[in-house]
Amino acid sequence: MTKLFSLLLISALTFANSAFCDELKGDAQAGSKKIAMCIGCHGISGYQASFPVVYKVPKIAGQSASYITTALNEYKKGERRHPSMRAISRSLTDQDMADISIYYQELGHSDAAPMPAKAKDPEGEAVALVQKGACTSCHGANLSMPIGPNYPKIAGQYADYVLVALRSYKAENQSVWGRNNAIMGGVAKQFNTDELQVLANYVASQQTELHTVPQNKFKFWAAN
Ligand code: HEC
Ligand code: HEC
Repeated sequence: MTKLFSLLLISALTFANSAFCDELKGDAQAGSKKIAMCIGCHGISGYQASFPVVYKVPKIAGQSASYITTALNEYKKGERRHPSMRAISRSLTDQDMADISIYYQELGHSDAAPMPAKAKDPEGEAVALVQKGACTSCHGANLSMPIGPNYPKIAGQYADYVLVALRSYKAENQSVWGRNNAIMGGVAKQFNTDELQVLANYVASQQTELHTVPQNKFKFWAAN
């Protein structure tokens, strides 16, 4: 495990570096005018997606801008195969992504973080799985302080989305869903679905910096 982990960490750091160099500077103000297409899903608390199963659309407000850009590029390139996010990301230029990403990073800061309930983990099962997967060594001690610019904050993300994301990393070569990511693929494959569910519940129960900030479409149009 230690050996596998150092290998993952090295590839993770190389990956972080290369993406960081060609990053464009985003403008949140410009971003605020480019999100009309996003708020129908990411601006409605608890809005549910129905592919490949029913789960809540991820919280992206308060997520780090560099990770948002990384994720959008992965959909665009097909490394993440979610069909609607693929179509949407293909319509965005690099500058659009930079502007939208910084907008969503800052949108998180303007809103107070809700405090999720503490995880119920009487047997210490979740903590043992978190240790086995070394989650905190990359996502940070509180799962909200990632070590690299294209690593996500995961604490307090919706549990059903976290489970779908973890299972997606195990589905590397499917044509219509799944994610190809060497780092998280290696992590997720160590666990069966029941264990991933325990991990997802634990991740979701941690104190969060992520939100869905409700955004009314009509108000948005009136203000812009
Ligand atoms: C039709 C609903 C819908 C719309 C519209 C939409 N999204 Fe998404 N978005 C989703 C779903 C569902 C996912 C999760 C996909 C998956 O499982 O990988 C997602 C995932 C993402 C992620 C990855 C989040 C993470 O934690 O990895 C980002 C970033 C994102 N969307 C940004 C955007 C932006 C920016 C827009 C507008 C330009 C947008 N989305 C429009 C439904 C939508
Ligand atoms: C070696 C570093 C590393 C370790 C260890 C690690 N992760 Fe990750 N994790 C990442 C990176 C990098 C990404 C972004 C991958 C991508 O771009 O899709 C990620 C993505 C994720 C996502 C998707 C987030 C989203 O918003 O879509 C979840 C969920 C996640 N990790 C959970 C975990 C859990 C739970 C563990 C422990 C069992 C863990 N990770 C261990 C580096 C790591």
